[in-house]
Amino acid sequence: MNDARRFPDGFLWGASTASYQVEGGIDQCNWAEAARHGRVPPCGRACDHYHRFAEDFAIAKELGHNAHRFSIEWARIEPEEGTFDEKEIDHYRQVVAALRAQGIEPMVTLWHWTEPLWFTHSGGFLRRDSAKVFARYCERMAVALGGDVTFWITINEPQVITSNAYLRGKWPPFIKNPFTYLRMLRALMRAHTAAYRAIKHVNANAQVGIATHNIDFDPANTFWHRRAARILDQFWNHRFLTKTAGTHDFIGLNHYFHHPIGKAVPPEAPRSDMGWEIHPTSLYRLVTDLRRYHLPIYITESGLADAKDIHRSAYITDYLASVHQAIREGADVRGYFHWSLMDNYEWSEGFWPRFGLVAIDYATLTRSIRPSARVLASIARENALPPMRESL
Ligand code: BGC
Repeated sequence: MNDARRFPDGFLWGASTASYQVEGGIDQCNWAEAARHGRVPPCGRACDHYHRFAEDFAIAKELGHNAHRFSIEWARIEPEEGTFDEKEIDHYRQVVAALRAQGIEPMVTLWHWTEPLWFTHSGGFLRRDSAKVFARYCERMAVALGGDVTFWITINEPQVITSNAYLRGKWPPFIKNPFTYLRMLRALMRAHTAAYRAIKHVNANAQVGIATHNIDFDPANTFWHRRAARILDQFWNHRFLTKTAGTHDFIGLNHYFHHPIGKAVPPEAPRSDMGWEIHPTSLYRLVTDLRRYHLPIYITESGLADAKDIHRSAYITDYLASVHQAIREGADVRGYFHWSLMDNYEWSEGFWPRFGLVAIDYATLTRSIRPSARVLASIARENALPPMRESL
């Protein structure tokens, strides 16, 4: 084995999911309500992961994963304000126990965009006491799962949820107002800070962070294009992290987009089924850029919709080569979680985009491992890039 291709010892290898996208049977949250009003596609039983998690984790194990990121559905845990459902809390205890039984390290996201209806109807994160209310739920989960979970993500992609739901008006609550958008961003900063403190209070050893959705703004070489890219980069990629400085034990990096500014994407550039450009160097640049925080970095999401599994194998090796290059140059990257373990509900797009290492037949709920999943599996098992491919 060529040591130059190895990842650091103890590297976490796995995939990510989110409760609403895979579990099924969640009807007391804002997205389910929006679906009842016909404004987003219905989610129904999704992958029925709620009942099949043990089977799914056995697949993750077979795929060489030693870690798994999933989220907790707040609407299940706190169906009414201030009332916690012990049965549902116990469900997630079993989820964690099932991961541990497979030797898989859990990483728990507390809020991946769906919220209980009572919270939405009382103003959601825009209500005055939202940070307190959110932190109370997070604290309850930290107590319940405490010793068995080290890694916590308070909020998934504050940039994406706020811009799609409060600026572009595409997602519940379908608001298009820049001022509300900025208020919501600030509310999420307060919510994260309160949740961080609550979790650390319960378990001082917990590692708590967010998953930030960073975009590679890539300017043409002119003063104005570089300046535009810098402004976007500061606002989109760094504002949340800098405004909440001191409340991150690590950075979770979700990455999907290369965004050229003032230059065209070559027409032959490979793209996912959703038209998103495949551009591995972006991940190298974003990881390298995050070194400024001097915190451990976990790639908490990266992946593509690719129903025929044409691009996914190369995507995995090329993006990981990019991560590896950043590590060789000194970035403290400690894990990679592919999005996603299985096909799932892609928000306002519904079920057509296929992001899974594992394909789901939604009629029968049969799981089938895609060939690319074996590529990631062998990298994970070897803890090294494949020998035949040149790193970037
Ligand atoms: C989100 C996921 C989503 C994925 C693909 C990320 O922004 O965290 O929930 O499915 O991107 O769009």
